[in-house]
Amino acid sequence: MKVLVVGGGGREHALCWRLSASPLCRELLCAPGNGGIGRVAECVPVAAEDLDGLVRLAQERAVDLVVVGPEAPLVGGLVDRLQDAGIRAFGPTALAAEIEGSKVFAKGLMQRYGIPTARWERFFDAAEAKAYAADLGPPLVVKADGLAAGKGVVVAQSLEEANAAIDAMLVARRFGEAGAEILIEECLTGREVSLFALTDGSHMLPLPSAHDYKRAQDGDEGPNTGGMGAVSPTPRLTPRLEAQLQEEVLAGAVQAMAAEGRPYTGVLYAGVILTEQGPKVLEFNCRFGDPECQALLARLDVDLLPALMACTDGTLGHIGLDWTGDSAVCVVMAAAGYPGAYETGTVIRGVPAAAAEPAVRIFHAGTAFQDETLVAEGGRVLGITGIGPSMAHAAASAYRAVAVINWPEGYCRKDIGRPD
Ligand code: AMP
Ligand code: GLY
Repeated sequence: MKVLVVGGGGREHALCWRLSASPLCRELLCAPGNGGIGRVAECVPVAAEDLDGLVRLAQERAVDLVVVGPEAPLVGGLVDRLQDAGIRAFGPTALAAEIEGSKVFAKGLMQRYGIPTARWERFFDAAEAKAYAADLGPPLVVKADGLAAGKGVVVAQSLEEANAAIDAMLVARRFGEAGAEILIEECLTGREVSLFALTDGSHMLPLPSAHDYKRAQDGDEGPNTGGMGAVSPTPRLTPRLEAQLQEEVLAGAVQAMAAEGRPYTGVLYAGVILTEQGPKVLEFNCRFGDPECQALLARLDVDLLPALMACTDGTLGHIGLDWTGDSAVCVVMAAAGYPGAYETGTVIRGVPAAAAEPAVRIFHAGTAFQDETLVAEGGRVLGITGIGPSMAHAAASAYRAVAVINWPEGYCRKDIGRPD
């Protein structure tokens, strides 16, 4: 088979690493890919948002399966476009991807089908939004309805902060149309976990649990990021609670989407917060988490490709996946300054030596090779993943490899995989 992976982050490197090892995969392409992906796949310089270019590429290269990594092309309708062109694609259609692309849709869905979530209201008007915020009282959460590259959620500690976020979204249109409608939610507290399942629209195959680390600094301080680390499995869930959430949240959402006439296929990701009042869903995403995917796939013990294929043709009921009993801990190395402004083109040394450490796998995100020199090209740059019989062992392996990397312009959190 010829497979095309869309995206160029650490998640896509992990997917490419697994797919390139599949005996069914004869040729692997990735658009646009990155420095590390170029070692296991042919990188083609087509952006993940260039839907025309991606459909053309899949047609020209007679690709048998397209695996879409990021949310933007999914929400934009890439899978629909590929299907119209007769090309098999892993990922939800645009209508189904609205579970991530419209927070108002996702909240409405949860409300209609009894999936527990934070109390909320939707607003087009800033004055009405501010009145509701004043009524609810801080802390509260202001969210843009649409995709805002991970920046559309403001956890406001004061009413001033909430009002500023409301104005930025509804009046100044900081996120354009994505913020033409907003949501205001009660602020929940608790530990967060990430749950995933593959689905073909009717069958569902839950994947192991994970949790990620969203803030830039140790101890969950500092600004929100795309994710500075992840562990799988998460020690935050008992087997019983995990089974309950797989049923109520993941299976519940798959059934709800089918009932709404938007059958969901691909991977469904639920971000859940464990509050004193019980677990509540913060968000659904229409893709694998990044960096959760790196930690998950480091533990996979079988070929991934048949499972992804089965999601596209309704045969997931015949598929099982085996996972090692190990833990995986992924430590993200980011460019200093990220998630704010950062430098690019800085040289990263020592990656081959770090990758030679036992029980370590290194996934590239924002990297490129200039001749044989590895340079940083993005905010999140490497995902150093340790594997071991416990979270502590896995974290120790990951940080041993981090110590071997010589990149003065980079940083990472030091507490990924430490017990809560
Ligand atoms: P979302 O994109 O909706 O998951 O929001 C991103 C992050 O913002 C979440 O992972 C939480 O850390 C935080 N967040 C979102 N909604 C809430 C909420 N209702 N209460 C507290 N924190 C939240
Ligand atoms: N790790 C968070 C996300 O992928 O959205």
